[in-house]
Amino acid sequence: MSELIESAAESDAPQHRRIRSFVVRAGRMSPKQIRGVDEGMLRFGLIYSPEPIHLSAAFGRSAPCVLEIGFGMGVTTAEIATAQPDTDFLAIEVHPPGVGNLCNLLSERQLSNVRVMQHDAVEVLTHMIAPNSLSGIHIYFPDPWHKKRHNKRRLVQPDLTTLLASRLSVGGYLHLATDWVPYAEHMLEVLSAEPMLKNSASDYSARPSWRPETKFERRGLKLGHEVRDLLFLRV
Ligand SMILES: C[S@@+](CC[C@H](N)C(=O)[O-])C[C@H]1O[C@@H](n2cnc3c(N)ncnc32)[C@H](O)[C@@H]1O
Repeated sequence: MSELIESAAESDAPQHRRIRSFVVRAGRMSPKQIRGVDEGMLRFGLIYSPEPIHLSAAFGRSAPCVLEIGFGMGVTTAEIATAQPDTDFLAIEVHPPGVGNLCNLLSERQLSNVRVMQHDAVEVLTHMIAPNSLSGIHIYFPDPWHKKRHNKRRLVQPDLTTLLASRLSVGGYLHLATDWVPYAEHMLEVLSAEPMLKNSASDYSARPSWRPETKFERRGLKLGHEVRDLLFLRV
């Protein structure tokens, strides 16, 4: 990440505002991605509003719902949703090209079990998702914010973990993956300390067969990083 982006990361967080886990970069969008947002969000998009959402109304059926934070370009999201047609997926991302790309994938695959939100997932969880309502949460390769002075921007922190756990129904799961071992160690410590969660493994979990390799994972593996999965259950 360039120094320019880092300084933007600092400056977009005025004192009164919560520190955010993301920086929206003004990256170029392809015409196809722009079309994906313009047309796809009409079909698959949900608008943020600080009020509880009725998931069954949003999806037009009553089914288990998995929420994903930070789907990137959405390739993994589309693959998992294709493989699990009986589950609904609420996919949240702030990166506009990724939103366009996922919408295009949903159209191409004619998927009806995914809804897309372009908003800060922490606000969505806080205001729109009722307690005990999700069957699962996916957070794959969240930004590691490598530098010590940026560690506070990491998504996975004790407060967020309590919020995530509270939105899961009992028996639901929280599945995280990262290719940054110091972040994995932090995740393991924070998740293990949350009384509403129980580790499904003794420490790290094997990658479940239903999680395909993600773009960021491939990049990490090429750099020689080790990937860790964490799978916790709501008790
Ligand atoms: C490193 S990328 C990983 C993308 C994807 N999961 C993958 O593995 O290819 C992390 C993504 O999380 C998104 N993100 C970070 N914090 C977020 C938040 N609070 N709400 C929504 N998206 C967020 C970022 O915009 C970024 O695209």
